[in-house]
Amino acid sequence: MQDLPRGQDISKTHGIITPIRVCSSFRRARYAFIGGHMRLKDCFNFHDFRELARRRLPSPIFNYIDGAADDETTYRRNTAAFEECDLLPNVLRGVEQVDLSVIVMGQKLQVPFYCSPTALQRLFHHQGERAVAHAVQKFGTMFGLSSLGTVSLEDLSSSFSFPQVYQFYFHKDRGLNKAMLDRAKAAGVRILMLTVDSITGGNRERDLRTGFSIPFSLTLQGMAQFVLKPKWAIEYATHEKFRLPQLEQHVAMSGGTTSIGDYFTNMLDPSMNWRDVAEMVKHWDDKFCLKGIMSPEDAKKAVDIGCAGIVVSNHGGRQLDGSRSSFDQLAEIVDTVGDKIDVLLDGGVQRGTHVLKALSVGAKAVGLGRAYLFPLAAAGQPGVERALGLMRAETERAMRLMGCRSIDQLSRSNLRFRNSPPSRTR
Ligand SMILES: Cc1cc2nc3c(=O)[nH]c(=O)nc-3n(C[C@H](O)[C@H](O)[C@H](O)COP(=O)(O)O)c2cc1C
Repeated sequence: MQDLPRGQDISKTHGIITPIRVCSSFRRARYAFIGGHMRLKDCFNFHDFRELARRRLPSPIFNYIDGAADDETTYRRNTAAFEECDLLPNVLRGVEQVDLSVIVMGQKLQVPFYCSPTALQRLFHHQGERAVAHAVQKFGTMFGLSSLGTVSLEDLSSSFSFPQVYQFYFHKDRGLNKAMLDRAKAAGVRILMLTVDSITGGNRERDLRTGFSIPFSLTLQGMAQFVLKPKWAIEYATHEKFRLPQLEQHVAMSGGTTSIGDYFTNMLDPSMNWRDVAEMVKHWDDKFCLKGIMSPEDAKKAVDIGCAGIVVSNHGGRQLDGSRSSFDQLAEIVDTVGDKIDVLLDGGVQRGTHVLKALSVGAKAVGLGRAYLFPLAAAGQPGVERALGLMRAETERAMRLMGCRSIDQLSRSNLRFRNSPPSRTR
């Protein structure tokens, strides 16, 4: 199953003391150990939202979001990398007004972070993409709809001025690729984001254990977890039927004949190469972005074929375990193509200070994944709004404390790396 941290295997540790929780706040520890009632207003950070989501979701679904590939090393490293970089503030700079806005691939965003495209959102909360879209609209940022999204492009674009971004996988059937692109164009999508790190599915061992797949083919243990979360089951059963509207005309998933695993294995084209993508860029004839670029060589090629942006990303550690963290790799990419193309980053971002560090290295904006998915699962639209609000407040506070009034005042001179500093000063 596409799109779980060893040592943090929640499926095995429900209700049992884990080191992670001991290290976190006393309050969270109380919830975890004593099982007190936890509500949205008790959530102040990523870990709180994650804990509330864990309580609300059947564990196969929680583990689908929380998990990553193999030993989940890259997943852990994505966040840990930010902690090896220290901020160096300047003071007495008159910071009563702070402007967080940025321009990314021609779109003005009011905040320098956006919601990365993620699959299956209505499985996490019955409002799914609609909840995220409402929250994104409120914060004036960018929303990426996944081609494995559970609300249709047309549904969203008739109610919102987005999705600005449509995330797409490359299929063997070139006719299908063209039909999907044409549909996105007709729905008013501005930026096409081709995910290039998922040519085959990552090895998500938590999903193998629970049997999580679409359509569901759960193990007995996995099924029992659904019985333990009747509220989720009632909401799922009493709202509109689960669909994958971007794909249903092309893939018989609802009939139970093709699973998402089969979709990745059989329908995506492992022979995809730079020539194919260059043709697609030409056909799209608007802003085109590659998601999952990690090497400077590939970043240069993206420039050569006319892309407007790239996302330095390892898919949240869900594909190639052992891959370098996005933040560790950012400077090299920015130094290579940062003056020619918009470089974005996602992976492991949990705090406003993480956003600030990535922007200081040279990212134009930062994508959130689990940092909005856990809030969605925890509480729907109010959950995502609270998470984005906290992220904005943290980023703005950190800007003030750093002595910066606008994003362009951030630079590598604000940073000190404990090991191997990135060479050039932006
Ligand atoms: C549950 C889940 C589903 C995802 N689905 C997709 C997807 O359909 N397409 C895609 O390009 N990336 C997908 N991603 C990857 C995200 O877009 C993003 O790269 C990643 O979540 C960033 O890491 P973070 O979760 O640590 O912030 C998914 C990630 C998660 C956690």
